[in-house]
Amino acid sequence: MRRKLVIGNWKMNGSLAANSVLLRGIAEGHVEGNVDLAVCAPAPYLAQCQAALTGSPVAWGAQDVSAYAAGAYTGETAASMLQEFGCRYVIVGHSERRAYHHESNELVAQKALAALNAGLTPVVCVGETLEEREAGRTNVVVCAQLQAVLDVLENPALEKIVLAYEPVWAIGTGKTATPALAQEVHAALRKQVADRSATAAAQLQILYGGSMKPENAKDLMAQQDIDGGLIGGASLKAPDFLAIAKAGN
Ligand code: G3P
Repeated sequence: MRRKLVIGNWKMNGSLAANSVLLRGIAEGHVEGNVDLAVCAPAPYLAQCQAALTGSPVAWGAQDVSAYAAGAYTGETAASMLQEFGCRYVIVGHSERRAYHHESNELVAQKALAALNAGLTPVVCVGETLEEREAGRTNVVVCAQLQAVLDVLENPALEKIVLAYEPVWAIGTGKTATPALAQEVHAALRKQVADRSATAAAQLQILYGGSMKPENAKDLMAQQDIDGGLIGGASLKAPDFLAIAKAGN
């Protein structure tokens, strides 16, 4: 039985004062059960997350990582640096970075590998645009995004990643995918991994992201292949974030 995982992606939001309230609310409100919690904050706030969450059951992480271990890569952050701030997770290949920073499938795969090499768990995001869905290309797109990662990881490493299916048309729009629609894509992703490693596929956590809210989280996480959520807007309010986690129990 896979545990559920609910990760808050704060995106480029927060302040030291607001984070202090949010982090305390999450740490104090977390209820033990079958759902693990984590927050992925903007890099400047990782020390604050570490100070606030160390000793609590809530993990933390970052929203991006360099594909390189060190060197002349101005502005980038190495996985080893994230590890020094106690990060457990790092989001790679979020659709906003694929779009705004032109991150290719191959670059995302190298970022996942860099994270694993530093002992972090990459949360690999895949997802189609509305145009791709309407053209019937959803599975082709998301399976190609996943295949790039499969091409660079050996089976043992494959057992250490988390996947997140985030239909781009559902992110920040309030247009959540139906449980059945999300389940269909999650099942296809799990089968693709199973074709490579049954062991990895069985334990792989596949999160759904895209307007997951307290009111729809239970039906989504009740699906066989939806193992949690990657939460944007609703992760910025402790009661909403905790309500989503509770829905997974
Ligand atoms: O990474 C999670 C994010 O893309 C989902 O955002 O606001 O639709 O929950 P939101």
